Amino acid sequence: MTQANADPIVTFQKWFQEAESQESTLPEAAALATITPDGFPRVRVVLIKSFSSSGFDFFTNYKSQKALDIEHLPRASLGFHWKSMERQIRIDGSIRQLESTLSDRYWSMRPRGSQIAAWASDQSCPIETREVLNERFEIMRNRFPEGPIPRPDFWGGYRLIPQQIEFWQGQMNRLHDRLVFTRTDSGHWNRQRVQP
Ligand SMILES: Cc1cc2nc3c(=O)[nH]c(=O)nc-3n(C[C@H](O)[C@H](O)[C@H](O)COP(=O)(O)O)c2cc1C
Repeated sequence: MTQANADPIVTFQKWFQEAESQESTLPEAAALATITPDGFPRVRVVLIKSFSSSGFDFFTNYKSQKALDIEHLPRASLGFHWKSMERQIRIDGSIRQLESTLSDRYWSMRPRGSQIAAWASDQSCPIETREVLNERFEIMRNRFPEGPIPRPDFWGGYRLIPQQIEFWQGQMNRLHDRLVFTRTDSGHWNRQRVQP
């Protein structure tokens, strides 16, 4: 990685395309870290469904644990790891809800079963048994027997707006490459190489 584009989104796009062709599964999966209201970091995997210079988008339940974290402190960190290419990307920034039109658009593309599951699940809340969860799924399946299923108001997207993006490329002798891009107030990206 001696050469990298001055725009980290261009480099992200290139690496992502390479990951799509080389990784065996889910190149779009990334660890998402948030901070709990009592100040602890918390991480889980989400799927990044789209990205652009405006940010990195994922979809979830707006009442989930992560959503509560984000509501309390709208900052997050994303970590991609593409094992086959010995690559890692970290993206840190602020986070906000996506416009409802974008959430509607993605919702309408989801398989019907996933839509019913979203209606059936109070994500991150306890439930007595698996059977109760299955019953809730059946109730929702009966509630929406046919036709388009509306998007629940408790489900939609978030956008992580990058402030810093680090590209990590594994190299021989663990003398890895690390390039860190930091966005300035004027919107330009400063680039810095850091030690492995
Ligand atoms: C590969 C993979 C992809 C996932 N994608 C999503 C996702 O896009 N959105 C989501 O809400 N949960 C996703 N999950 C589940 C989350 O990791 C997590 O369990 C869930 O969102 C609840 O997290 P929370 O309680 O911290 O809010 C995914 C899990 C895995 C393993």
